[in-house]
Amino acid sequence: MSQKNFYRRRTLAARLTKLITQVAVGSAAASGVFLTASRRTGKSTFAREDLMPALEEAGAIVLYADLWKDLTTEPGAVIVETVREAIERDEKLMSRLAIAPGLEAVSVGRVNFNVNKIGLGKEVGLTKAFEALSDEAKKLIVLIIDETQHAITTNEGVAALFALKAARDELNSSKHYGLRIVCIGSNQNKLAMLRNSSDEAFFGATMVHLPMLDRDFIDWYHKELDLPYDLAPSDIFQLFEESGYRPELLSAAADGIRFDLPVDPESTLVRFAELVRAQAEELNANLKTVIHSLTPIQSAVICVMGAKGEGFAPFESSTMELYAKAIANAGIVTSEPRVEVLDVQLALIALQEKKLVWKTSRGVYSIEEQMIVDLLREDGLLDDLV
Ligand SMILES: Nc1ncnc2c1ncn2[C@@H]1O[C@H](COP(=O)(O)OP(=O)(O)O)[C@@H](O)[C@H]1O
Ligand SMILES: [Mg+2]
Repeated sequence: MSQKNFYRRRTLAARLTKLITQVAVGSAAASGVFLTASRRTGKSTFAREDLMPALEEAGAIVLYADLWKDLTTEPGAVIVETVREAIERDEKLMSRLAIAPGLEAVSVGRVNFNVNKIGLGKEVGLTKAFEALSDEAKKLIVLIIDETQHAITTNEGVAALFALKAARDELNSSKHYGLRIVCIGSNQNKLAMLRNSSDEAFFGATMVHLPMLDRDFIDWYHKELDLPYDLAPSDIFQLFEESGYRPELLSAAADGIRFDLPVDPESTLVRFAELVRAQAEELNANLKTVIHSLTPIQSAVICVMGAKGEGFAPFESSTMELYAKAIANAGIVTSEPRVEVLDVQLALIALQEKKLVWKTSRGVYSIEEQMIVDLLREDGLLDDLV
C-alpha cells in the first residue's frame, strides 16, 4: 500500500469539527478536546489527513504540533516553534508585528520581525502571539497537539501548557476570534492527568474515544491490496479486529504473501492469517522478554503499579507492603522481604529506562501502555495485589 493513499474518514472529521468549532454555551469543549485511541490505530493520520482539512474548510486556522516528531526536541519548544511557523507564514502579520509599538524597531523599508522573539518568557509571549494571529486572520484558531502527554514530562512542556491555557482564555474572550486546543494521545490515563486536576491546564476538557477504523476501511483496503489472490474482506476484517485494528499488521502480512510463490486461494487466507498473528505476537514477545528480564524488585514495583492503576502512590507504607507481597508471590523467597525506599527509587528509574514506566515532571508515575498491564495480568502477576 502506498503511503500516499489514505482511506478518508469524512463523516467522523465533520462530527469532530462541529464539536471543536461550535462550542455551545457552557460546553467544556472550549477548554479543549482530547482524542484518544490505542497506538498505531490511525490517530495521527486522521488528524493530518481528515481533521485538519475539515477544520480549515470550516474556516479555522489549524496549527499542528507533533511532540514525538523529534524526541530530542523539548516538547515546550515544539509548541513554540509551531506558533512561530504559523506567524511566519503570514506576511502581513509579520510586517504588522515589526512595526507594533513596544517591539524592537524595523529596518527601513523591509520587514524584519524576528520570530525568535516569540516564546516562553520572551518579548512576545504565546498569548501575544496568538492574539496577533487571531486579530490579523479574524478566524478561529485550532491548535492540534499530537502525543500531548509528552508535554507533562518536562518543566518547559508544563510551562508551555500553562501559557496555552492563558492564551486560550484570552482568545476565547469577546475581544478575539477563539482558540481551541485538541490534544491527541494513545494513553487515556496519561491524558487524564492533564485534565483531571483543577490546577492543570485542561480541567474539564472533553475526552473523545476516536472510533477504530471500520469495515468500510477494510473494503477500501481490500481494493488497495492488489494481491495475486483474492481474500474476502470479511476475513480480513476479522483478522483486523483480532489484531487490535492496526493497519500496519495487515500491510506487513500482505507484503509477506506477495513474496510467496503462487499458492491456491485457500492457503492464501491461512498464510495471511498466520502472518498477521505472527506480527501481533512479535510485538508482544519483545515486551514479554523485557518484562521477564526484570529484577524481583523491579517486577514487584511494576506489578503493584499495574494493579493499583491511577491510585498508585509509590512510597506509601501500604504500597511498600504490597511490593514485599509481590516478591513473595513470585516465589523467589519464602517469607516477605523488607523493601527499602531506595530500592523502589532505583527500580522506578530502571523501569523508566526500559520504557515500561512513564513519569510526569511532578513525579506522578504510570505504566507506559495498556498492553503492558494486559500482559502482566495474563501472567497472573496482578492477582491479590490490591
Ligand atoms: N485512514 C487510513 N488509511 C490508510 N492507512 C492508515 C489510515 N490510518 C492509519 N493508517 C496506517 O496505520 C499506521 C498507523 O497510523 P498512525 O496514524 O501513525 O497511528 P497512531 O497515530 O494512532 O499511532 C500508519 O502506517 C498509517 O499509514
Ligand atoms: Mg500518532
